[in-house]
Amino acid sequence: MNKRTLLLLLACTTVTVYAQKGKKSKVVIKPRTEFVTELMGKMTVDEKIAQLVQFTADGTVTGPKSGSNFINEIKKGNVGSILNATNVQYTRQIQEVNLANSRLKIPLLFGYDVIHGYRTIFPITLGETASWDLNIARIASEVAAAEAAASGVHWTFAPMVDISRDPRWGRVSEGAGEDTYLGSKMAFARVKGFQGNSLKDLNTILACTKHFAAYGAAEAGRDYNTVDMSERLLRETYLPPFKATVDAGVATFMTSFNEIAGVPSTGNKWLVNNILKGEWGFKGFVVTDYTGINEMIPHGYAKDEQHAGELALTAGVDMDMVGAVFLKYTKKNLEEGKVTQAEIDDACRRILEAKYDLGLFEDPYRYNDAKREKETIYKKEFLDAALNAANKSMVLLKNSNNVLPLKKEQKVAFVGPLVSDEYNIIGSWAATGDRNGYAVSVQEGINKFITDKSKVSFNKGVEIKDTKRDNIQAALKAAANADVIVAVMGEFENQTGEAASQVDINLPGIQKEFLAELKKLGKPVVLVLMNGRPLTLGWESENMDAILEAWFPGTMGGDAIAQTLYGVNNPSGKLPMTFPRSVGQVPIYYNHKNTGRPYLGASDPEQKYKSRYTDSDNSPLYEFGYGLSYTTFSYGNLKLSTQKLSPNGKLKVSVDVKNTGNFDGEEVVQLYVKDVVGSVTRPVRELKGFNKTLIKKGETKTIEFELSPDDLRFYNIDMKFVAEPGDFEVFVGGSSNADLKSTFELVK
Ligand code: GLC
Repeated sequence: MNKRTLLLLLACTTVTVYAQKGKKSKVVIKPRTEFVTELMGKMTVDEKIAQLVQFTADGTVTGPKSGSNFINEIKKGNVGSILNATNVQYTRQIQEVNLANSRLKIPLLFGYDVIHGYRTIFPITLGETASWDLNIARIASEVAAAEAAASGVHWTFAPMVDISRDPRWGRVSEGAGEDTYLGSKMAFARVKGFQGNSLKDLNTILACTKHFAAYGAAEAGRDYNTVDMSERLLRETYLPPFKATVDAGVATFMTSFNEIAGVPSTGNKWLVNNILKGEWGFKGFVVTDYTGINEMIPHGYAKDEQHAGELALTAGVDMDMVGAVFLKYTKKNLEEGKVTQAEIDDACRRILEAKYDLGLFEDPYRYNDAKREKETIYKKEFLDAALNAANKSMVLLKNSNNVLPLKKEQKVAFVGPLVSDEYNIIGSWAATGDRNGYAVSVQEGINKFITDKSKVSFNKGVEIKDTKRDNIQAALKAAANADVIVAVMGEFENQTGEAASQVDINLPGIQKEFLAELKKLGKPVVLVLMNGRPLTLGWESENMDAILEAWFPGTMGGDAIAQTLYGVNNPSGKLPMTFPRSVGQVPIYYNHKNTGRPYLGASDPEQKYKSRYTDSDNSPLYEFGYGLSYTTFSYGNLKLSTQKLSPNGKLKVSVDVKNTGNFDGEEVVQLYVKDVVGSVTRPVRELKGFNKTLIKKGETKTIEFELSPDDLRFYNIDMKFVAEPGDFEVFVGGSSNADLKSTFELVK
């Protein structure tokens, strides 16, 4: 059914409902437990099961067609939640149909993927994470929540907290990269941003931590593929960001499509009931991913949908996204003793409590205020926040001979397939972001910045993937007359995000060939990248004079790129994920193990029998935590408050960071720790702290960190989460290659 038909249907329904509206009695709200207990005492089994059912409206398609006619299901009283319906009018109309057919007037919950903005779009979350600024992450989520809540959305399916070490996997664009510590901090900040101090506030929404769990470890980087790992790796690397969101008070979780060691997460009792709801004490509700219950059949874990429904509910899943399995089989499973009434009640209670916390029982239409929607969307402060986030997410990868920042008096030829793009610039999962003109393209950003139009020219030259060469000559001609060439290149937005894995992570199409033609002109060439994953940039890193990683920078992206290229913004971002030399190195990440035959590089006296490639260096092209600035920083005077840390002691680490260049700049000072010997092998180093700070040119700042034995814990040989006495090394610097080192001992 298309939206127009639906609205006509709804219109007649609305009249009916309207006529009844006068009967609506004001619900007297009692304390939550009392209210929900009373309500559940009146509910039939069918009404309870309906709360466990989510269908998709037809606003956005985010999975295989569900085939459900969601309006009819609502009219039959079969639905507790709807996803993919947005704006106050559409959600109001659907809610009215629901309340007209709900005996107990239980409101629907409206969910939507508000990942990095609702209408004002921020950089993709991988880019936001590159800011290494937790306030940026929180504010981006606050703005997203304010716009979504003003538009009838109660619940976002975010933050996505999947750690990933594999850029072939398209969904790296939605997460916080490869590191557990950084990812956990970002996850916590994003939940706080979405949910604020109270879910009753009209500018906050339920957050949803996804995808539980280890979805980012899909074999071969192929989406939805098998995940198999030790419990130690799962608990040490992949679970902490999820736990961080529980500590932040996240209201909901979403299970992942993948299996872990043979058990699909959607039916994984150990993962959901034992760890999430048991060990971690999670009190919110768990929704599956899109038809995740049904997919346990092709997984070979459920023999049919009824069995799949039993496995999901008994595992601790509370809501069925789009699969209609809970709707069709829960009562039968109850009658056959395969699920219990207590399991149904627990799931129902958790969902009703979330609706209560949002204030929906007091007023199901409190998020449906058209005036507030109009006043909230695209507020100037939101656009300013998006610009700031985009600026702070920029990562300068190369800047030979300080070709950047550009000078206004220079003649600059802007070329490349994304030079005037307003569609891809807001990235994938851009909710209701405007792809047809509202976003600021690079060309628009530059034109706002450079008043003398004779100084700049704009020619695409080539497309992103299409290999047509019609426009190359015009672009080369313009470039030949310029002092500097800026090539704005990258990927389509849909080359990353869901169902977007790739074996080839080079610049697509003939973009690299075009760069080679530009280079022949003998002018400095600056490459600006818009992409959702680490790319393999070996040739570019050799042949470009400067490289600026802009990610998909969002609604204000063109302004941010212009301000960065011309030095108004001094780039301060650092990579949240390793950029490999070759896709053959993947998975590649900084906190790897040392092995028994670590390769020490060209200086290694043993060049053959070492853990290395014969056709590539082991090192990445650009390491985790790497990023340049228009200025330079030097590190020195690393000091530890003690060389012996006692079991209940604290260790202060301080370092002096001097701005030795000609620009004020922000530096992300990073602290890494190595546990030299453990009852199991330990990574060569792990991020244990970071501090982003502004250091004016010529200024020296002393940055301090504090470590405690708790920061040194890991799952030992007996799977106990402990810190083991012994020697540790501390590294401090501006990337994971930091070599300023000291040592200490954790004593018994
Ligand atoms: C999709 C995605 C998930 C999203 C959900 C609802 O399949 O895996 O991240 O939140 O469906 O759109």
